[in-house]
Parts: sequence; structure tokens; C-alpha cells
Amino acid sequence: FIHPVLLCGGSGTRLWPLSRKSFPKQFSRLTGDESLFQGAVRRLIGAGFKEPVVITGNDFRFIVVEQLAAIETSPQAILIEPDGRNTAPAVLAAALHLRTTQPDALLLVAPSDHVVPDAAAFRAAVQAAAPRALAGDIVTFGITPTRAETGYGYLELAPGADATATEPQALARFVEKPKAEQAEQMIAAGNFLWNAGIFLFTADTLVKAFSQYAPDVLEPVSAAVANAKPDLGFSRLDPAAWAQVPDISIDYAIMEKAPNLAVMPFSAGWSDLGGWEAVWQEAGPDAAGNVASSNATAIGCEDTLLRSESPRVELVGIGLKDIVAIATTDAVLVAHKSQSQRVKEAVAALQAKG
Ligand code: GDD
Ligand code: MG
Repeated sequence: FIHPVLLCGGSGTRLWPLSRKSFPKQFSRLTGDESLFQGAVRRLIGAGFKEPVVITGNDFRFIVVEQLAAIETSPQAILIEPDGRNTAPAVLAAALHLRTTQPDALLLVAPSDHVVPDAAAFRAAVQAAAPRALAGDIVTFGITPTRAETGYGYLELAPGADATATEPQALARFVEKPKAEQAEQMIAAGNFLWNAGIFLFTADTLVKAFSQYAPDVLEPVSAAVANAKPDLGFSRLDPAAWAQVPDISIDYAIMEKAPNLAVMPFSAGWSDLGGWEAVWQEAGPDAAGNVASSNATAIGCEDTLLRSESPRVELVGIGLKDIVAIATTDAVLVAHKSQSQRVKEAVAALQAKG
């Protein structure tokens, strides 16, 4: 069996004003009838998969429960972090939680804010990668890169590895979030894939990797899991132990260091929805390149995204090109599509204003 572990703690500021601190993007219906989180859960329901383990923050626990109930899924566990310490502690906590009863449990760790349209192909890729993970490797999932993106991790294929294979391949190196120049070099070199941020390994493999490469994370997270308190179906990690946990991502803590990495190439479609431009792309623009939500109207526009999040707000764009306009009941964003990543700056500016 494979245990899906869904990471559900980030705040996704690049999708402001839809994504908010109190209601991050993974819980929003960005591209369909279900939220990204619900899509991520549903993608991992099927033969060979157990109920999901969800790890999230205290503020989101009821959103998680409600959204799982809406798709008739009961979780195996919902772990609550006292506060966000990035992905390394979150992933490790889930592995330690499962290991107490099943040391050889196979974990598929996945973000809850991605779009993977072909769920069956994804499950098949995970199944194909399972033997490699059972043999002790950490299996990553590799996406064919299309630009020198600096917000992703890069996977360097070992000599002789085949980026189009349907089984896991050997990895030479993992490079997290390179500088622009290095990203361009890697794209030019051609033997790199993007890290999808999805990992498959046994609980034992992961715990061993932490004991070797990140003992400072292992020690307090172990205590936080050992002293976790059950609370109305949630498992609350111990706050005193958690206060000692360093803030670090799994990519820096483990992936850049571990030698036992493999990559499963995945080419059936993946998007990280890392900004409004990606949402526009993923939503499938019409012949004029526009995407308009149900109460938005585009007149004479080109390559433009118009979204109103409220049934009470009508949004109209006239004669726009390459614009993103997002209206909610309390905020409006208007940005050039090519600069929509800079929404982060707006969020920082608003936070500074208080
Ligand atoms: N529970 C929990 N706690 N979840 C968290 C936390 C936390 O403290 N921090 C982040 N997450 C969740 C996010 O909600 C997201 O679903 C996932 O973990 C990944 O975190 P991101 O912060 O979105 O990572 P990233 O996008 O910068 O980079 C990762 O993903 C890229 C692909 O999208 C890396 O793995 C990159 O190498 C990769 O290319
Ligand atoms: Mg991300």
C-alpha cells in the first residue's frame, strides 16, 4: 500500500487576492469545481492507495475536514503543526507518525496546490516507482522543463539515464532553486528535469536520511510526534518540542544531500500554479487568448485573465492586452500578466501597512 501524505501548510502569496493567509490557494477552486487540495486528494484515491494523511496548520484544520467530507473521504490522520516550519519538518512528522505502526510504510508526499490533469497516469507513475522506493531510494518525479524557472528544484540525470523512460532513473544531483544564470545553463545542458515537489520513499528510508543529514530536525520533530496529543480526530504535534524545530525545506535538508535519489519521469501534465500567469494558462484561454470567470466580461481583450470571486461583483475589461484582473469583495488586483509574480511585493507592502 502507498500512503498519500498531503502537505497543506503554505500560504501562496503569489495568488493574492484570492489566496489569503487565512484561506490559502490550495483550498480555492482555482481551475474547476473542486479545490486544488480536493483534487490532490482525489488524485491519490484508487487501488493500492490508503486514505490520506494530511499535515496542516491549526488555522486550516476545519477547512481540511470540511473539504475532505465534501468529497466523501475520511483521512487516515490529520496532523496539526503548532506553526509552519517549512516542508522538512512536516514531511518528517508524517513519516514518524506512520512509522510507529508501520516501519516499511511507503509514503507518497505531495503538495496540495498543484494541477495534474491525468490522475490515472499519475497513479500509474507512482506505482511504477514503488519497487525503487521499497529498495531504499527516495524517488522524485521529474517534469520536462520549458523555461529557466528559478522557483523550482532541478534534477540532473545520471549519464545514460533516459528522461522519457517509464521506470525510475538514476539521478546525479538535485539543485534547489538555482540562480537565473545557473538555471539557464541547466536548461541549455538538456540533461535536467524539474522537480515536481512529489516524493516517494519508505518511512525508514526518510528517517535514516534525516538522522544522517539533518539530525537537528530529527531530534525535535521526533519529540513532537512522540508527545503529540489526540484532539477531536486531529493529532496535535507537541508545541514545546516544535518550538525547537528549524525552518527548512525538504529540498535543502535532504534532497540536495542524499545520494540515494532516483527520478521517475512524468510527462502527462503538471502545473504548480505558481502565479496568475500559470492560472491563465491552465484555465485554457479562448481563441482570443482570454479567460473570463462567470461574472466577468472581456470586450475587445487579448490574452487577458478576468476573474471575479464574488457573485456580487461584475468585472468588465475593455481593450486590454496581457492583463490580469482579479476582483474579490475586499480587494482588486490589476497587473500586467508578465509581471504578475510581483504580487508578492504587493502582499509585503500591504503587510507593512498593517
Ligand atoms: N504542512 C505544511 N507545513 N506544508 C507546507 C509548509 C509547512 O510549513 N510549507 C510549505 N508547505 C506545503 C505547501 O503548501 C505546498 O503544498 C508544498 O508544501 C510545497 O511547498 P512550497 O513552499 O510551495 O515549495 P516550492 O514551490 O517553493 O518548492 C517546492 O516545489 C517545487 C515544485 O512546485 C520544491 O520541492 C521545488 O524543488 C519544486 O520544484
Ligand atoms: Mg509551491
